[in-house]
Amino acid sequence: MRRTLLLVAASGLAGASLVDNGTVVTLDGVPYYAGGVPVGQLGDNCTRRALLAAAALPGLDFFPMTIAETSAAQLEASDLLRIATRYEAEDDVFRLPFLRTLYVRSTGASQTRINVSSLAAQLSHLNIALLMAPGGLSGAEEDATGVATGRIRGTVPKGPYFVSASSGHLYRAHRLYPDDNLAFVQGVVSDGRDGFVSLPAVTENVMAKSIAVPSRLYFATTEDQPLAGLRFGVKDIFHVRGVATSGGNRAYFYLYGAQNATAPAVQRLLDLGAVLVGKMGTVQFANGDRPTADWVDLHAPFNPRGDGYQDPSGSSTGPAAGVASYDWLDLAVGSDTGGSMRGPAGADGLFGNRPSTGAIPLDHVIPLSPVSDTAGLFSRSGVLWARATQAWYPALRSHYTSFPRTLYRAVAPSDWTSGHLTAPVSSLVDTFVEKLERFLNTSATPANYTALWEETRGDRPRDLADMLHSTYGVYITHDQWRLLGEPFFADYAAKHDGRRPFVNPGPLARWQWSRTHATDEIYAQGLRNISLFKSWYETEGYGRPDSASCSEGLYVYPWSIGEPSYRNVYTTAPTGPPLGFGDSSTAVMAGVPEVIVPIGEVPYNSTVTLRTEYLPVTMALRVARGCDYVLASLVAALEESGVLRAVATGPRLYP
Ligand SMILES: *[C@@H]1O[C@H](CO)[C@@H](O)[C@H](O)[C@H]1NC(C)=O
Ligand SMILES: *[C@@H]1O[C@H](CO)[C@@H](O)[C@H](O)[C@H]1NC(C)=O
Ligand SMILES: *[C@@H]1O[C@H](CO)[C@@H](O)[C@H](O)[C@H]1NC(C)=O
Ligand SMILES: *[C@@H]1O[C@H](CO)[C@@H](O)[C@H](O)[C@H]1NC(C)=O
Ligand SMILES: *[C@@H]1O[C@H](CO)[C@@H](O)[C@H](O)[C@H]1NC(C)=O
Ligand SMILES: *[C@@H]1O[C@H](CO)[C@@H](O)[C@H](O)[C@H]1NC(C)=O
Ligand SMILES: *[C@@H]1O[C@H](CO)[C@@H](O)[C@H](O)[C@H]1NC(C)=O
Ligand SMILES: *[C@@H]1O[C@H](CO)[C@@H](O)[C@H](O)[C@H]1NC(C)=O
Repeated sequence: MRRTLLLVAASGLAGASLVDNGTVVTLDGVPYYAGGVPVGQLGDNCTRRALLAAAALPGLDFFPMTIAETSAAQLEASDLLRIATRYEAEDDVFRLPFLRTLYVRSTGASQTRINVSSLAAQLSHLNIALLMAPGGLSGAEEDATGVATGRIRGTVPKGPYFVSASSGHLYRAHRLYPDDNLAFVQGVVSDGRDGFVSLPAVTENVMAKSIAVPSRLYFATTEDQPLAGLRFGVKDIFHVRGVATSGGNRAYFYLYGAQNATAPAVQRLLDLGAVLVGKMGTVQFANGDRPTADWVDLHAPFNPRGDGYQDPSGSSTGPAAGVASYDWLDLAVGSDTGGSMRGPAGADGLFGNRPSTGAIPLDHVIPLSPVSDTAGLFSRSGVLWARATQAWYPALRSHYTSFPRTLYRAVAPSDWTSGHLTAPVSSLVDTFVEKLERFLNTSATPANYTALWEETRGDRPRDLADMLHSTYGVYITHDQWRLLGEPFFADYAAKHDGRRPFVNPGPLARWQWSRTHATDEIYAQGLRNISLFKSWYETEGYGRPDSASCSEGLYVYPWSIGEPSYRNVYTTAPTGPPLGFGDSSTAVMAGVPEVIVPIGEVPYNSTVTLRTEYLPVTMALRVARGCDYVLASLVAALEESGVLRAVATGPRLYP
């Protein structure tokens, strides 16, 4: 009997593999994720035990610690206060309780001298229980409680950490934020190498996740890393090594599992120093779902503007909702094939762009169609959006000596709207165009692209709307079925005894439509039609190059016009791809850059809150192909001169 028990115990132990995946800790009421991958170790073999004994909190493995830097030759009480105040102001992860254990490192030419007795009052005021430095301590017995000479192994930047009292390992402090607006599919943290792991931590919230953000103090911008420390999320169609991609589809997520490669577009942001914090919600396969009926597999993220129940648009739904909702998120990556960046930028009142087609590689990204897939960035600030896109799109550092001198003002708003401008919207648009005229020292030229086509088309087909009516629908359904749908169905069937995976009604209807409406022959004809339009746009249209300003003209039109579109309104079932041609398709067909910029907000009576709420009004700004850099410089200059303004998170753009 005894023998048997022993055998069971032994085999049980042999098979067990217990992994410490980190811990959720709460420091003075604020939740943090501690653990995962150690980044350094406290003390050397001789001093570690004593140091840890002095710093540890009774009964707990982790204790908070701050690594501070100073260039002072002698550390004064005022330096300590200045460090604490600055770290608290610069970073949302650092908080004063991290000072309980303080390690002071010198960045000056010589070791900073620390006279502990002259600091006693300040140490007690800031609740510093243990002060450590690699040397230079005087004024107290070295082994006295509260002061120690210690060293840290590893190259560990300044900032807050959690230290394990049993091992001395240092772990980055990640503050946990709730994702109340369901902007994310999952949070991720660095695996300490070249990949990421899914965040194994949640706090209390409805159906949502927690996202872990590392301290901003760990990062410093350099020439090579101009985006150091900026936190970003990516639409969940971009693969990230170590983490599964959903594409907004549960079957896809579980079928393919953790990805082996990070999309180069994401890697480039990481190389520029930006910090990835999670994968974000997407309309299924970046195709076309509306919130109430079509988001069957995953729930649609929430647009925080107005009453909080407005259509967030898509397909880059989560990235826009996140940037519009959370101060702790700086940027988000989305994609635009036919409006998937610009739609959500308009609905959520953000800066968000479609670049020149081909601006950045889209390998290891779930495709809609290579004909017009692009990747863009959302930001609350035009200056930040410009800085980030200019660093991100490497090939587009075009030289220019002036901004475009011709301002084309479209005669009609975007085809994504009802077309009707109310008086308050008209007034915002007029004011913006007047300021733009003054800024560019020009007066706007009314622009009617249909009329210009008719006048200058040469021997191209007469009816532009007819020529491009079905083109978009043809190539996206043709390409996504072949590049994604067909292999996905085959891989799933092979693993699930011939079964078909669930696909939302929108993409499924579009893929089915492609079999009869998007044959290879029709597809080839569509691509010819696109090239006819593109060549016209670059020679006779509004996308002519210019040697001084890159783009001869700047084309502007109202993009979102503050029209309520409630997410609880039932719409008809999807039957196929969008058809028709409007101004919003011009950038797609001509492959030219277009950015959405917020210009104001207008009131509406909410049927949800029964109060007056406000919705964003935005404009689209478009230039010639390859002129993304100039467009970004222009947006930054417009914000710096007060023509545009950065927006806030939450219900109001300008609270
Ligand atoms: C948790 O442990 C498992 C097993 O080692 C590992 O695959 C996963 O990446 C870990 N996650 C984190 C966040 O450490
Ligand atoms: C500390 O201990 C480790 C493991 O026993 C050893 O490899 C290392 O050389 C020691 N370091 C010092 C500074 O003694
Ligand atoms: C350290 O500070 C104490 C108290 O301010 C002072 O009396 C002492 O002279 C100082 N020691 C040195 C070495 O500066
Ligand atoms: C990652 O690589 C492994 C080994 O080659 C392979 O089995 C797996 O399918 C790959 N995963 C993905 C998502 O491609
Ligand atoms: C603005 O344009 C007008 C007419 O083209 C020109 O005379 C004037 O010098 C310009 N002003 C500035 C500030 O560039
Ligand atoms: C633009 O021009 C077309 C063709 O000349 C015309 O039918 C249309 O009414 C014009 N649109 C506007 C808004 O003026
Ligand atoms: C291409 O343009 C021609 C001429 O306008 C039109 O008849 C045809 O339907 C178009 N085909 C596609 C696939 O867009
Ligand atoms: C909201 O409703 C009130 C009362 O019916 C009306 O006076 C007001 O004009 C409405 N405001 C808007 C922005 O529609």
